[in-house]
Amino acid sequence: MKKIILTLFTLSFILSCKMSADFDDEKEVFIEDLISKMTLAEKAGQMNQYNGFWDATGPMPEGDYQKKRYNELKNGQVGSMLNVIGVDEIYALQKIAVEETRLGIPLIFGHDVIHGYKTIFPIPLAESSSWDLDLMEKSARVAATEASADGLNWTFAPMVDISRDARWGRVMEGAGEDPYLGSLVAKARVKGFQGDDLNDINSIVACAKHFAGYGFSEAGRDYNTTDFNHYTLHNTIMPPFKAAVDAGVRTFMNSFNTLDEIPATGHKHIQRDILKGDWNFDGFIVSDWGSIDQMIPHGFARDGEHAAELAVLAGSDMDMESSLYVSKLVGLVESGKVKEELLNDAVRRILRVKYELGLFEDPFKYCNKQRSDSELASDNNMKVALDAAKKSIVLLKNNNQLLPLQKEGEKIAIIGPLAGDKNSPLGNWRSQAVYNSASSVVEGMNKYKGNRIVYEKGVDLYYGKTNFHNRVKINYDDKSDFGKAKLAAATSDIVVMVLGEEGNQSGEGRSRTNIGLPGLQLELLKEINKINNNIILVVMSGRPLDLSWEDENIPAIVQAWHLGSKSGDAIAQVLYGDYNPSGKLTMSFPRNVGQVPVYYNFKNTGRPSTSIEQVTNSGYADVENSPLYSFGHGLSYTNFSYTNFSIDTDKLGIDSKINASIEIENIGNYKGKEVVQLYIRDIVGSIARPMKELKGFKSVELEPGESKTVNFQIDSSMLEFYTYGNKWESEVGKFHVFVGGNSNITEFKEFYLTD
Ligand code: GLC
Repeated sequence: MKKIILTLFTLSFILSCKMSADFDDEKEVFIEDLISKMTLAEKAGQMNQYNGFWDATGPMPEGDYQKKRYNELKNGQVGSMLNVIGVDEIYALQKIAVEETRLGIPLIFGHDVIHGYKTIFPIPLAESSSWDLDLMEKSARVAATEASADGLNWTFAPMVDISRDARWGRVMEGAGEDPYLGSLVAKARVKGFQGDDLNDINSIVACAKHFAGYGFSEAGRDYNTTDFNHYTLHNTIMPPFKAAVDAGVRTFMNSFNTLDEIPATGHKHIQRDILKGDWNFDGFIVSDWGSIDQMIPHGFARDGEHAAELAVLAGSDMDMESSLYVSKLVGLVESGKVKEELLNDAVRRILRVKYELGLFEDPFKYCNKQRSDSELASDNNMKVALDAAKKSIVLLKNNNQLLPLQKEGEKIAIIGPLAGDKNSPLGNWRSQAVYNSASSVVEGMNKYKGNRIVYEKGVDLYYGKTNFHNRVKINYDDKSDFGKAKLAAATSDIVVMVLGEEGNQSGEGRSRTNIGLPGLQLELLKEINKINNNIILVVMSGRPLDLSWEDENIPAIVQAWHLGSKSGDAIAQVLYGDYNPSGKLTMSFPRNVGQVPVYYNFKNTGRPSTSIEQVTNSGYADVENSPLYSFGHGLSYTNFSYTNFSIDTDKLGIDSKINASIEIENIGNYKGKEVVQLYIRDIVGSIARPMKELKGFKSVELEPGESKTVNFQIDSSMLEFYTYGNKWESEVGKFHVFVGGNSNITEFKEFYLTD
């Protein structure tokens, strides 16, 4: 019997390999055959991407460009479109491409499905604070299901830029400051979007962006120059991109910034040598919006033709909204400046992804109105959004156990311009969310009937409707509603203040030099605090804010980000203790903007400082070096104690393992979830090494009084880094290992890596 099973297994294994090999062979044969039929102009057309007639996410050309583009579409000179929304419009454009062009090559339709499509999830920085990889995969899957139901087959996500700079508005799109966690999040999101099979109707192509180094824009100013060394590139910036490739991501998007003084779009080394060479990436790279053309103002290209030449030589396969590939590549090949094989390589990659999506089999497979009607913003999808929102909330401070709120007998004043705001929680990059469709804090709190609740806005944060393109108009002078808010506070037991950033105050083009509460909010908070100090501050923001005064004066602080469609319900359920907060920060909160960039995996320097009194040490005269709230910080309504931390040996060989174990006990009164974190410090390296590096984490849920032993396996692969010798390897020597509930842990065990 056993023999029969083994034979059957072997047969099925061979068959499956043969099938996938056949699929690959079939795909490549089909693609080569199609390429052989294409004219130069059609090849250049496949490399051309235009924005739809929908909401642009970048600057559009002047004049009547629509007619010209319509004709190019009919002439087979468009390979992809972005921001075309809805089954009808996508169907109409796909019909032209498939039925009116000479070769009928289908378009691929892209859009920024960053944290949801119609059902909006917490902004990615918030969701990463859940440290729940399954959840992040699931929310990406829901987003993919909704987007594909509405005709789309490609998202420009996940954004995997590591950043340490809260001035940069795009930190809201990423997973914070750590490459290890960022890599795991990148993998989860790619798998969520692409699923196990790109041909699956719910799968859409993912896009790792922005390649590379965009999160290091100098001074946090968007689109600015970067200046980092190649060790930072490899040890900090690249790992999440490599993780995305290992997870099977099929597209990349390059970035607006220069690195090594070269615009990423024209950077041959990172695109051809590393991504397509070392990493064997066989998908395609799309430029970011107009970034090929922008090599002219960068001072790297003489003119459009030169920019197109530099970009295609560097390995940029598709041109988003420069119109330079479609207009210049034919001439460049005919003049001999660019070899046609470079176009063939780019087109091969683009056709490969279209083939894997099944677009050649059925170009209209995503155009099913029934699916769209049933999938978008469904109750089930909203349930996932609520779960994600609750798990993304981080309890920063909770003195005198002010939280959770009693469910009856309390007089509660809800005060603040974001308390009733149904727009801001949707955040930036909100895709097809309906304006003002988020649940507000007031709505969430009013579902609990046992307390007396009054609501006063107290002050306007901003005026008018906001969108992707406009600057939010902040109120800096109208305090006329302060009085009503002060009265509400005076006649209440507890004040829940909801303050922070409007939803479009973070995101692309939203850099801020002042990262405090915008407008008159801090002034209002100080006025209310004079009247009633029983304040629970709920902070909505797309980035770490400077909360130093708040931390000094306010007893309870909850970081509630921009949590998406179910924001208010999630916040209310956390404030009332129906969900015990479990989030942990993935980005450090600075004491003030002068401290930025501040991050947990910093280098020790030759004069480490532990106090502002140490004058000639690496510190400041006015604030200590540590951030206000550290990476990995997040409180619970219960307390956890860590004891019996041990390692089973202090000698680690190249092929052996060390087991680190610790006992964690819930010593409080609430059931709670804790993310137990493992950090390692490499004491001496061929280059200066960080004080700590996250190398593992495990979530444990414990009833009051319950305890568990958590074990981590350490092996030499976890100690590898990009060394002075420009190789990924571990180096023998002394290491310290830390295990605990945040990155401030000081207790460590010492071990040695030996040859
Ligand atoms: C924007 C962004 C990029 C986005 C693209 C399309 O400028 O930089 O992240 O995917 O254009 O909207």
